[in-house]
Amino acid sequence: MSVYVVTGVSRGIGLEFLKQLSEDPKNLIVGLVRDKVATEQKVATELGGRPNVHILHGDLANYATLKQAAADTADIVGERGVDYLVANGGLVPHLDAYGPIGALADKVEEVEAVSSQLWQTNVIGNMHLFHLFLPLVLKGHVKKVITLSTGMADLDLINNCEVDIAGLYAASKAAMNVIVAKFNAQYKKDGVLFLSISPGFVEVGRYTDVTPEEAQGMTGFVGNLLAYAPHFKGPITPEESVRHIRSTWEKASIEGGFGGAFVSHLGNKQWV
Ligand SMILES: NC(=O)c1ccc[n+]([C@@H]2O[C@H](COP(=O)([O-])OP(=O)(O)OC[C@H]3O[C@@H](n4cnc5c(N)ncnc54)[C@H](OP(=O)(O)O)[C@@H]3O)[C@@H](O)[C@H]2O)c1
Repeated sequence: MSVYVVTGVSRGIGLEFLKQLSEDPKNLIVGLVRDKVATEQKVATELGGRPNVHILHGDLANYATLKQAAADTADIVGERGVDYLVANGGLVPHLDAYGPIGALADKVEEVEAVSSQLWQTNVIGNMHLFHLFLPLVLKGHVKKVITLSTGMADLDLINNCEVDIAGLYAASKAAMNVIVAKFNAQYKKDGVLFLSISPGFVEVGRYTDVTPEEAQGMTGFVGNLLAYAPHFKGPITPEESVRHIRSTWEKASIEGGFGGAFVSHLGNKQWV
C-alpha cells in the first residue's frame, strides 16, 4: 500500500527493487531510467504486464529530465504523494574498479573526466532528485529517502582491510553520504528519514568480462574481505540484497537514530 520512486531500474539492483516492490498490486512504483523504451520492453518481458509499474525518463546527469519526471510522477501519484524515494541509480566506472589508487597516477585526463561524471551523477544528480521530489515525499505517509551507498566508502573498512581499489567511485559515494546527512539535518524536523544503505557485495554481471589483470585486482580485494569477514562466501544475489535493504529501511526511523546514517544492508557496519 505504498508509493515508491526508484532510480536506475533498467538493470541490476534497481530492476530487482522494481520486481519485488511491484509484487504487491497495491503498491505503486515509478521507475526512473535513461532508456525508457528499452526498460519498458524489459519489464514487459521479465515481469509481464504489471499495471502498478510506471517507467519514466530520468537521467541523473540531466536536471531537465529529473524535473519533468517529478512533474509526471506528481500526476501519477496524485494525493498519495511518495512514501519511499530510492536513489539507486549510479555510475560505477570501469576506470578504477579493479586497480589500486596508485594505478591512476598517469591517467590524468581519464581521472578528471570520470571524476566529473561521478560528481555529476552520484552526487549532484541525487541532490537535484531530492530537491525535486521532496514536495511529494512530504505529502506521503512514510517519508523515507534511501540512497544506495557502498561499504567501500567506510573509512574503517578501507583502512583495516586495505581496500585500495575503486578510489574515485568510493569518494563519490562518501560525498553523497555527506549530502544525505545534510538533508537529514534540515528535514528530520519535518519527519523525513534520509538514510544511506550499502547493498553489500552484489553480483550484477559486472565481473563476467574481466581481464586477467583485473581479476587479480579483484582477487586481492576478496582476499582482504575474507580476512575481515571469514563467513564471506562471495557476492550475494540482487534478490537477497534487496530483501535485506527493505528489511533495514522498514526498521530504520529518525527516533531510532538512523537519520542521516550510513549503514549496510544488514542495518549495521557489517558490510558483507
Ligand atoms: N552491485 C554491488 O555490489 C554494489 C555495491 C555497492 C553499491 N552499489 C550501488 O548500488 C546501486 C545499484 O548498483 P548496481 O550494482 O545495480 O549497478 P548497475 O548494474 O551498474 O546499475 C546501475 C544503474 O544505474 C543507472 N544509471 C547509471 N547512470 C545513470 C544516470 N546518469 N541517470 C540515471 N540512471 C543511471 C543505470 O542505468 P543504465 O542502464 O541507463 O546505465 C542502471 O540502471 C548503485 O548506486 C551502486 O553504486 C552496488
